[in-house]
Amino acid sequence: MKHLILCAGLLASMTVSAQRKTIPQKVDSVLKLMTLDEKIGQMNQYNGPWAATGPLTNDDNLLSQIKDGKVGSMLNVTGVKRTKELQDIAMQSRLKIPLLFGQDIIHGYRTIFPVPLGEAASWDLEAMEKGARVAATEASAAGVHWTFAPMVDIARDPRWGRVMEGAGEDPYLGSKIATARVKGFQGKGLGNTDALMACAKHFAAYGAAVGGRDYNSVDMSLRQLHEVYLPPFKAAADAGAATFMNSFNDLNGIPASANAYLMRTILKGEWKFKGFVVSDWGSIGEMINHGYVKDNYEAALASANGGSDMDMESRSYIQHLVKLVKEGKVKMTVIDNAVKRILTKKFEMGLFDDPYRFSDEAREKAQWNNPEHLAIERDIAKKSIVLLKNEHSLLPLSKTAIGKDNAQRQIALIGPFAKAKSDNLGFWSYDWPDDSIRVTSLYEGVQKKVGADTKLLYAKGCNVNDTVTAGFAEAVATALQSDIVILSVGEARDMSGEAKSRSSIGFPGVQEQLVKAIVATGKPVIVMISAGRPLIFNWTADHAPAILYTWWLGTTAGDAMADVLFGDYNPSGKLPMSFPITEGQIPIYYSHFNTGRPAQNDSDRNYRSSYTDLSIYPKFPFGYGLHYTTFSYGPVQLSNGVLQKGKPITASVVLKNTGARAGTETVQLYLRDLVGSVVRPVKELKGFQQITLQPGESKTVTFTISVEDCRFYNDKLQYIYEPGEFRVFIGGSSRDVVETGFVLK
Ligand code: NOJ
Repeated sequence: MKHLILCAGLLASMTVSAQRKTIPQKVDSVLKLMTLDEKIGQMNQYNGPWAATGPLTNDDNLLSQIKDGKVGSMLNVTGVKRTKELQDIAMQSRLKIPLLFGQDIIHGYRTIFPVPLGEAASWDLEAMEKGARVAATEASAAGVHWTFAPMVDIARDPRWGRVMEGAGEDPYLGSKIATARVKGFQGKGLGNTDALMACAKHFAAYGAAVGGRDYNSVDMSLRQLHEVYLPPFKAAADAGAATFMNSFNDLNGIPASANAYLMRTILKGEWKFKGFVVSDWGSIGEMINHGYVKDNYEAALASANGGSDMDMESRSYIQHLVKLVKEGKVKMTVIDNAVKRILTKKFEMGLFDDPYRFSDEAREKAQWNNPEHLAIERDIAKKSIVLLKNEHSLLPLSKTAIGKDNAQRQIALIGPFAKAKSDNLGFWSYDWPDDSIRVTSLYEGVQKKVGADTKLLYAKGCNVNDTVTAGFAEAVATALQSDIVILSVGEARDMSGEAKSRSSIGFPGVQEQLVKAIVATGKPVIVMISAGRPLIFNWTADHAPAILYTWWLGTTAGDAMADVLFGDYNPSGKLPMSFPITEGQIPIYYSHFNTGRPAQNDSDRNYRSSYTDLSIYPKFPFGYGLHYTTFSYGPVQLSNGVLQKGKPITASVVLKNTGARAGTETVQLYLRDLVGSVVRPVKELKGFQQITLQPGESKTVTFTISVEDCRFYNDKLQYIYEPGEFRVFIGGSSRDVVETGFVLK
């Protein structure tokens, strides 16, 4: 339905020459026609009437406000029918400025992808970009213009439920993934009907909420902010992210929603960001609770001046900005600048040419069941799985093996997730009516792999959160009948996500007891762990012979798990976060400082930076993940022991597949600056490459190192490098490395 729309006033002067105007000129023309009320309307975003992702404020004749030009954008409105219904109303407003529809398309829309932390474990940037592309293709076909993703918050505290939404603990990996996701969402560029506007969130440092408690305060040095928390945002801005969202937390006492240092000095100033900033849900009004402002009037004042261009759901702007402008407290230039940024995106999306260009029912239908999308999802799902343990090469399982005494082989599938469907989707996913058919369970995935010579047995054992062990007897009896047990445990889909912080991050309920009971049968047990965050499971890690960490893998979860279980895919995932031994170690991350009294190992405790009762090491380190083959690393060879500006050097290792299967290794490069004018981490990731080798095959893997890789923020926040000695580490995890050194002159 083509519907050429332009503001009423402009329409009269809509000549060929007007069509030739650049977007900034068109924006100016529209702005000139707008009343102050209409401008502020553009800065106002409401939740739609059908779904909510935050605490609702009762509205107040939403539809008539749209008609009055008081709403610039809506969230949680999806589907061609609904978006069209509301756009129709916007088209009845005086200037007919189209609405923007935003939605949390975090890891897929119709086809659900692994949760972002899971995808990050694939370290496969191309696959992540493709995943975001699929999400954009499906959501844009359903009338959505804008996703509130990627979430690029660095997170070093697995108690924080929102770790599932990001890329983990490392700024380098996080930046690469931020770029891939922005590119994936925005595709060939805004203006294409399959492009979604991206939104880098939550600006900034939300992932450092004290104690891992959601919405909590953040207090950190500006150096840490710049070095660890901002790089993925900068990467997203550089990749062209159309929008940013600020965050619920205060940063060093100033709420992010009014933080002029973040939004004006850094984002719109230093980084020259041209898009617009939306607040988080109600976060402008929540500054009253923070104790930063007295009421919504002051909240609107602080946020508008601080640089928030659009108010999501707090109603502070719509209620108070007109008055604030009339009183001269918020300058007209502040309003105009915000509105220009918003209108620019609407023009770039082509919505002024055709507000219904995303409202095509045929396209929506065509994207509804796209088998190619499922194949793309399955590809990244299997790459996201991390093999944590595989004693005696228990895995992979044979598809055709026979059982004891040549009898039919029996595989027992046990645990609360063995037949789970929607739990495989994780937080921030949609419930479609046919999920019970579309989403594959582990049981179904296994069933498809094995032939008639294998019989599957099943017992649930317990529910996710059970406190009773009533189902154990049946589970144990089932295990005893079998040749092999696949035991599926973990978190339900709503246990990691927004407002899902947990202080104890073990398996919920009696699940660890179930693992003990099943391992005690003496049968070979493969433990599959579904979760949105790093969990703590020491007993399992120490006693189960094989463990696969599967996160929440999305629509094809069961098939992807079975691909790995039966060796159709040799697992290649590597952890994007350190897995602690206990909550008492949190925050634990690989790129820590050395301290003045570093412990050399866990026996070295006397007046050392250690715990008297606990290891200083994580259970599983950042970058860790096994395969069904092994890789050896030769010594690091440098092209030159001296690095100078303009003269990069290379660091190479010979990587050999020393096992019997082809496999893909993620070769990681870390640097350490031994002496700095501010102390430097013991290791920092600076590069990685994914190398696939046949059994026995070797390859020289080469990284280029330039002075740019040696930069850091000094105490004056200058991004510099300093002469001195550096160590270079290359390996298959942050702990398992070969090393050498060079001098930067
Ligand atoms: C609050 C969340 O923090 C944010 O990430 C999300 O985009 C909004 N709600 C809208 O759902």
